[in-house]
Amino acid sequence: MIAKLKNYSEFSEISNTESLVYIYKNIDEFKSLSDDEKLYKFIESQIDRKKDISYLKSIDQVQVFVHIGEGDSRVDVLEKLRRKAAEVHELIKSSGAENSAIICDNNEYQIAFVEGLVLKNYTFNKYISETDKWFLKEINVRFNNEESGLSDILSAVYWSRDLVNEPPSHLTARNLSDRLETLSENSEIEVEVFGKSKIEALKMGGLLGVNMGSVQEPTFNILTYKPKNARNKKPIVLVGKGVVYDTGGINLKPTGYLETMKSDMSGSAVVSGLIKAIAANKLPVYMIVLIPATDNRPGKDAIVPGDILTMYNGKTVEVINTDAEGRLILADGLAFADKFDPELVLSVATLTGAAQAAFGTKVIAAMGNADEKMKDLISAGFETGERVAELPFWDDYGDEVKSKIADLKNLGGKTAGAITAGKFLENFTKSPYLHLDIAGVSFMDSDDHYRPAGGTGSGVRLLYKFIENSILK
Ligand code: BES
Ligand code: ZN
Ligand code: ZN
Repeated sequence: MIAKLKNYSEFSEISNTESLVYIYKNIDEFKSLSDDEKLYKFIESQIDRKKDISYLKSIDQVQVFVHIGEGDSRVDVLEKLRRKAAEVHELIKSSGAENSAIICDNNEYQIAFVEGLVLKNYTFNKYISETDKWFLKEINVRFNNEESGLSDILSAVYWSRDLVNEPPSHLTARNLSDRLETLSENSEIEVEVFGKSKIEALKMGGLLGVNMGSVQEPTFNILTYKPKNARNKKPIVLVGKGVVYDTGGINLKPTGYLETMKSDMSGSAVVSGLIKAIAANKLPVYMIVLIPATDNRPGKDAIVPGDILTMYNGKTVEVINTDAEGRLILADGLAFADKFDPELVLSVATLTGAAQAAFGTKVIAAMGNADEKMKDLISAGFETGERVAELPFWDDYGDEVKSKIADLKNLGGKTAGAITAGKFLENFTKSPYLHLDIAGVSFMDSDDHYRPAGGTGSGVRLLYKFIENSILK
């Protein structure tokens, strides 16, 4: 549950709040926020000393002062505010205050700050018997116009993080489908789940292949949101990787690579969180989410390097490495997507260690052939602080996944692994296509500003902004 966001209109309504946060660019702005003249000298001296964050504590209230420097670009200020909010969260926590009020004249700044505060406030403690019960319960804000559905967007990030953090013992493909089915309650999202026999009937050879080593059955999930007032006739189709655990299969991963592999369903967590937020805020966009789900394990029937699989669209794939399983299940998802005659197909996946090696935890690797949409995606990245870097997508790279004995093989050369994986996927959709490799950003080993250790939900806010600015513009 996210902290309750409450709108106030007068300072008198929040004067007794346990923590007050002032956000301003200079002393004049501060003076317009507070008529407590005793504070002015203090604030001036803090600005002079270049202190970004200062605070004053009394018995029943902590006042926090956040100074935004001059000179940064608009989007840099927004991201700085999200990060400062994470620091302020620590301060509030140490004071024990359970509610807060933001005092700021700029709507955008306020939204960014609340984002940081709420995202830092997330905890996953359902498996801990005795935990610190503190969290920020209520945030008072003064949004002067639209708050842009903020509360539902942040709830969707929580949803996404919760799914990623759930251990594989508690999140089989079927469990994931059960969780997805709950999205149809109290929303206009329709959820359809295919079990193994339907997947067999459809001949989704990639998903079935990866599932061969598993004792758990795979699922294929279809989430549809089609409001009557949708602005797009052809749907946006998102395909999310739902590998609930990736051992590597017969090409077993070694120690050091296995420990975070419950996060290999992050793509599915992001796209399901996205449709949840979009439906909750009733955006007029027709959208379909497809999630092929399974675990990837060695087992007596597991696929082996050398096998050939026939995918949903009839193309054959030589398996070179069973650890390159994401592209096998996504291939079926992408081919299935084309049935809906999409305006755009977008895949989201923790697909390659190469994307992680190239960009670390800071940036989402993006590639594709829908160039205008790519520009919108990159600018949504700056807006949300979930930045995107585009990789080249030339056909030369595609040559590396051609096989001598099948149409394709599931592994390229030694280098450019993120791109060859994307090129492999491109073979399975004829629609305008973008692909996000979120391997680097989906899971944090330790806290990173407003992304606490564990699942990050990175991609939800990015794609929401992208849909708002690109599809609904
Ligand atoms: N799930 C992994 C990719 C991954 C790596 C995600 C690190 C998150 C963090 C994927 O299935 C995988 O194992 N990829 C291999 C492919 C290789 C065998 C071609 C990789 O990137 O090492
Ligand atoms: Zn793998
Ligand atoms: Zn994987």
